Amino acid sequence: MLIAQISDPHIAEDGRPLGQVVDTVAYLKRTIAHINALPQKPDLVIASGDLVDKGTANEYEVLRQALAPLQSSFWPLPGNHDNRVALREAFPQLNTYCAADFESPVCYSLFHKNLQIICLDTSVPNAPYGALEFDQLAWLEKQLAAHTPQTACLLFMHHPPFQTGLQHMDGINLRTGQAELAEIIKKNPRVKRICCGHVHRVTQQHWAGCLALTAPSTAHQLVLNFDPKSSAALIFEPPGYLLHWIDEDPDSTQKQPITADSLNIVTHYIPVLETPPIQHYYKDLRPT
Ligand SMILES: [Fe+2]
Repeated sequence: MLIAQISDPHIAEDGRPLGQVVDTVAYLKRTIAHINALPQKPDLVIASGDLVDKGTANEYEVLRQALAPLQSSFWPLPGNHDNRVALREAFPQLNTYCAADFESPVCYSLFHKNLQIICLDTSVPNAPYGALEFDQLAWLEKQLAAHTPQTACLLFMHHPPFQTGLQHMDGINLRTGQAELAEIIKKNPRVKRICCGHVHRVTQQHWAGCLALTAPSTAHQLVLNFDPKSSAALIFEPPGYLLHWIDEDPDSTQKQPITADSLNIVTHYIPVLETPPIQHYYKDLRPT
């Protein structure tokens, strides 16, 4: 099973370059083309927030058009640049899974091949930092309690719950509910990954007994600078995405279904470069 995680495409009004310098639509289209060209198609594509930059309906329409060629099932969750109502209106497939009120947090749980996937909305309307309030935490506990300890689970959210050392971002990561989330994760070891966005860089930390990570942006990255006085300047390091590979037959002698204990998951970081794939180049050069 393959789950692609794209993040922070930051589509701007009318598809114009973000800040007049980042052609975020072109970058997203390139990522979608890359995913479609993978030799094995992902089962799901999950977008971990900041789908658009200002949260307008126009931006979401541009986003939908850029995503149209995608050949895998698409599941978004909001980041601090998103608008819950506009996002819900753009992606009606969420209506079956989310609360009826479009202004409530976009939290939902999916099942795919015995794997539970939870998308947890950490956004706070009109604020850059993230928060998990009582209702979101209670919802998460309920989703985790509803299935057996053997049901493996991946958790997706925009704001990382851990400090990255990049203080211009750490000041706006998950600010409320962090300790409560850690307790829930510790009580539920069947949560095997906490997959985040927001940082526009690939980072990972062993947090609350679980591997937590952040995905790169499909467009611009944020500069690597641990100076507390540094600002969140963007940098044109390669855009990219993550591909979570899950072994569907971890014990081939037993033919057991995926369980929380047997889950073998490896996360691949994939830069999306302008150069063509090199697999045929290698084939031609293989010694005979
Ligand atoms: Fe972002």
